[in-house]
Amino acid sequence: MRRDVRILLVGEPKVGKTSLIMSLVSEEFPEEVPARAEEITIPADVTPECVPTHIIDYSASEQTDEELQEEIKRANVVCVVYDVNSESTIEKIKSKWIPLVNSSANQWSKIPVILVGNKSDLQGASSMESILPIMNQFTEIETCVECSAKNLKNISELFFYAQKAVLHPTAPLYCPDKKE
Ligand code: GTP
Ligand code: MG
Repeated sequence: MRRDVRILLVGEPKVGKTSLIMSLVSEEFPEEVPARAEEITIPADVTPECVPTHIIDYSASEQTDEELQEEIKRANVVCVVYDVNSESTIEKIKSKWIPLVNSSANQWSKIPVILVGNKSDLQGASSMESILPIMNQFTEIETCVECSAKNLKNISELFFYAQKAVLHPTAPLYCPDKKE
């Protein structure tokens, strides 16, 4: 049995990583947020899977690339957050974030990834058309979810999916073909 779960949020600046964490904690949308939220720990008895869960924010304005890599190594699951209204933040999922997560992980196992499309309250069309090819390309992506820190849509679901990805992974995280 795993003793706790570390969930790390990464993604392009201003996609709403800090707002998502603060919305989860306070159950309301914070108009003003710091660049980076303090690490929070959710006690076991209030998590769906009854495991203490740590949620860690990342902000390029406060952390170096080395610090980011260290946090990725410590994480059990990484939420790559994008803005559903911004193609450039979606493009960066495959050009930057997934390769970075994979390069920080050890050679034989992959860290599960969840794609989190935030700001669905401002959304025109669904981002799924752009997201599905990325999901097909990278088996380490467990699932994707569209949510809104602003109207609190799918916030608790997102953290539940992240917890579930660690405790009940569906993708083959062990990759024997990579082992020479
Ligand atoms: P960095 O720390 O700079 O990387 O940014 P971040 O990803 O933590 O984003 P942050 O939470 O600071 O939010 C950026 C801006 O988007 C702020 O003005 C938020 O109020 C706004 N924002 C965040 N989530 C939502 C959302 O769900 N809907 C809308 N409409 N705005 C949002
Ligand atoms: Mg932030």
